[in-house]
Amino acid sequence: MAHNLDILRRVADESGARILLALKAFALPAIFDLIRGRLDGVCASGVYEARLGRHEVGGQVHTFGPAYADEDLDALLLVTDHLSFNTWEQWARARDRCMTAMARRPSLRFGLRINPEHSVGGTAIYDPCAPYSRLGTTRDSLERDLAGADGDPWRGLSGLHFHTLCENDSHALAETLSAVEERFGDILARDGIRWVNMGGGHHITRPDYDRSHLTTLIREIRRRYDVEVILEPGEAIAIHSGVLVSTVLDLPVNGMNLAILDTSATAHMPDTLEMPYRPHVWGSGTPGAHPHLYRLGGQTCLAGDVIGDYSFAAPLRRGDRLVFDDMSHYTMVKTTTFNGIALPAIAVWDSATGSLSVERQSSYEDFRGRLG
Ligand SMILES: Cc1ncc(COP(=O)(O)O)c(C=O)c1O
Repeated sequence: MAHNLDILRRVADESGARILLALKAFALPAIFDLIRGRLDGVCASGVYEARLGRHEVGGQVHTFGPAYADEDLDALLLVTDHLSFNTWEQWARARDRCMTAMARRPSLRFGLRINPEHSVGGTAIYDPCAPYSRLGTTRDSLERDLAGADGDPWRGLSGLHFHTLCENDSHALAETLSAVEERFGDILARDGIRWVNMGGGHHITRPDYDRSHLTTLIREIRRRYDVEVILEPGEAIAIHSGVLVSTVLDLPVNGMNLAILDTSATAHMPDTLEMPYRPHVWGSGTPGAHPHLYRLGGQTCLAGDVIGDYSFAAPLRRGDRLVFDDMSHYTMVKTTTFNGIALPAIAVWDSATGSLSVERQSSYEDFRGRLG
């Protein structure tokens, strides 16, 4: 994790961008000390993340949500620094309250999330530019909204936000920037627009990521439009920083070897079903790579609670530990106690000192507390 954070700090320093941790991807209070000082703050998707960022991480808090309930807007205006709206019409309805809040907290800034309608490939459920997307305002819908606007429609707005990438490299960002400039360049060039938030999905800490290209792109946008650039990666902060350790509970056979683990695809690693993807298990291979094939499944009643088919050099035994790699992002933040199963314990291992501290052990109260 420290390695990823050091890379991100260097990119921030060299490019002049502000880099925030996307709490939606990874939120572990035990490592907030590590984040503080290396990153410029957090990005939040709602009130609770914004409060967590404000009270426990520090630095800037930038928030975007597809829509805000009245009470959430009031709460956010007390804790966030930047607040981006999904449509101009949402902003127009909230403007008076936002301007009143800004009079009390002059550092508050407001932005509009745009949709450059440029998909860079990948998985449909992670594509905010897919047809009929509800995320970000397209140029057409902006024009429709502005047609009914009175006075200066940009009064109070100082930034644009876009988030269109997912596990992408700098070349996907370059393509996206061209689409942003083509559709929204005139707005970026307006005097009152002082910042552009390029969202997350930048896989900056991956070894083959072209960081100098990213730095050039950011510097160029800053220079051309005289704006501050903000990035809010989640995954890039946490990749290769955490594992999920499970235990083999049973080994039934039904046409093939099965293994039931004390974890769950649906409750503990839902992206394996949603995305879907196949996490690597230490010491395993794809079917056929090793002689002993197993279908790894979870502890819940869901028939499809299956992580995938994995081969091993030796037969599995009850009690064996299986280690799922790269499990810190979009896992801890998404777990549920479906079926009343325990949440995975959360432990922090300090690779510099070798010390291991268990931060949280799941309890009956975690399950009961959510039920009202
Ligand atoms: C608005 C916004 N910002 C940042 C992120 C973080 O993206 P990633 O974890 O892919 O870097 C997301 C992810 O969905 C997002 O929706």
